[in-house]
Amino acid sequence: MVGLIPVNYKDQLNKQKIKIAPSILAADFSCLREEIRKVEEAGADLLHLDVMDGHFVPNISFGPPIVKTINRFTQLPLDVHLMIKRPERYLKAFRDSGADYLTVHLETCPHLAEVIRQIRDLKAKAGVALNPQTPFNSIIPFLEAIDLLLLMSVNPGFGGQKFIPSVLEKIKEAAQWVSQRKIWLEIAVDGGVGPQNAAQIIEAGATILAAGTSIFKSADYKEAIDSLRGQR
Ligand code: DX5
Ligand code: ZN
Repeated sequence: MVGLIPVNYKDQLNKQKIKIAPSILAADFSCLREEIRKVEEAGADLLHLDVMDGHFVPNISFGPPIVKTINRFTQLPLDVHLMIKRPERYLKAFRDSGADYLTVHLETCPHLAEVIRQIRDLKAKAGVALNPQTPFNSIIPFLEAIDLLLLMSVNPGFGGQKFIPSVLEKIKEAAQWVSQRKIWLEIAVDGGVGPQNAAQIIEAGATILAAGTSIFKSADYKEAIDSLRGQR
């Protein structure tokens, strides 16, 4: 059981705005440009783009051409979440398509240090994602080399799943680790995030909330984004 987050980290968190990253997997692809414009106007801070290969996860989504198209429509930073085996083969293609963050799964990278180095060589920000069952300990040796830790709060592959509450403890562990080292690292949470649990996730120490269904399936994107951030 992890204790409370040390006060200094909480202060730091309070000073920065919680960032909201709409996951376009839940958007209406028949009018993607309009969907992106709407979340941009509603105050999104970055866009979360889910790439799935049908191997690491059962679903298949989209690849570099769609990322490139989205990049033409928006000024927002793009976090490309690579739910694919052997992501190192595609880093350059996604970077060339406009990815700002390249986020790979620890579970797909037996040589993670090398993959992080390749992301850095491409001058992108390095993200690493952990599945819900992957313990926090496994990423500790790499934390000082990355910009973003993406904690999955559903099993990756599909939008619209239910948040797994045990991930809250992992968020606290990560926040505590960061705080004790006085470094900065974005802690993103992805899957089943909505107005019903956002406050708890932020309280645990998350700095970025990735959310698909709770934004794109809502009637008012600004209201949805504000309520995730706790501004209502
Ligand atoms: C799941 C994806 C998530 C997903 C989130 O594999 O990585 O980013 O799109 O969707 P919601 O918010 O609907 O759970
Ligand atoms: Zn995702």
